[in-house]
Amino acid sequence: MTMEKAKDYAELSEMAAARIISKLSTKPDSVLGLATGSTPEGMYEALIKAYKERNVSFAEAVTFNLDEYVGLESNDENSYAYYMNKKLFSHIDISPENAHLPNGKSDDLDAACADYERMIENAGGIDLQVIGIGLNGHIGFNEPHTPFEQRTHIVELDETTRNANARFFADLDSVPKHAITMGIQNIMESKELLLLVAGEQKASVLERLVYGDKTEAFPASIIKDHPNVTIIADQGALSGLKAADYQTGD
Ligand code: F6R
Repeated sequence: MTMEKAKDYAELSEMAAARIISKLSTKPDSVLGLATGSTPEGMYEALIKAYKERNVSFAEAVTFNLDEYVGLESNDENSYAYYMNKKLFSHIDISPENAHLPNGKSDDLDAACADYERMIENAGGIDLQVIGIGLNGHIGFNEPHTPFEQRTHIVELDETTRNANARFFADLDSVPKHAITMGIQNIMESKELLLLVAGEQKASVLERLVYGDKTEAFPASIIKDHPNVTIIADQGALSGLKAADYQTGD
């Protein structure tokens, strides 16, 4: 596990975007795993800027998002499909048919999970998966005690997660109770993992990830077993770690 320190959120976003740009320059048809939430927003902005400056193209890229709420239309402004269109896809040259999210509107959600698995497999697997981490250690929507071997599945969202995401909705009751998420196993099968952690509110989470044991009670703890994982964290998120445990980048 490599840890890279960013002095602030802007630098973290630039560093994360640079990883994606570099991946696409060596393999233009890379399969990218993407995340939503607050943390990658700056990375998406940096990618759009790089695209506009002709420093990157997504023309051959294929993307798979980690998760999607169940029951929201893709034009609902709280759906992750809407988020991705607004924050990235509508600004770059990706083919809409290459940009995938789980189908939370399917009448048959189990079939939607199986379809998603098949699409990832047919694309050749994920080359680089970007993830964030929840305050309870979730990755994707894999809440504490999700079995590590779980694949794409439907989840009942934890109250911590619904509360954390309520800021985007009119009220807590409007936050969906279910989502489709790639499983921990899918995340672990990605050839490369990039975890972004920003802000002091994530310091104790990052501390537990780095110093704690591997346990299903803290889903992100599994990533220590991944052979190619980079964590990019800003100063605030790193405040609970000993300086010797991360590269300064100086
Ligand atoms: C989003 C996702 C979630 C978030 C996590 C952190 O697609 O899979 O696991 O990465 O909840 O969210 P933020 O970045 O808002 O703190």
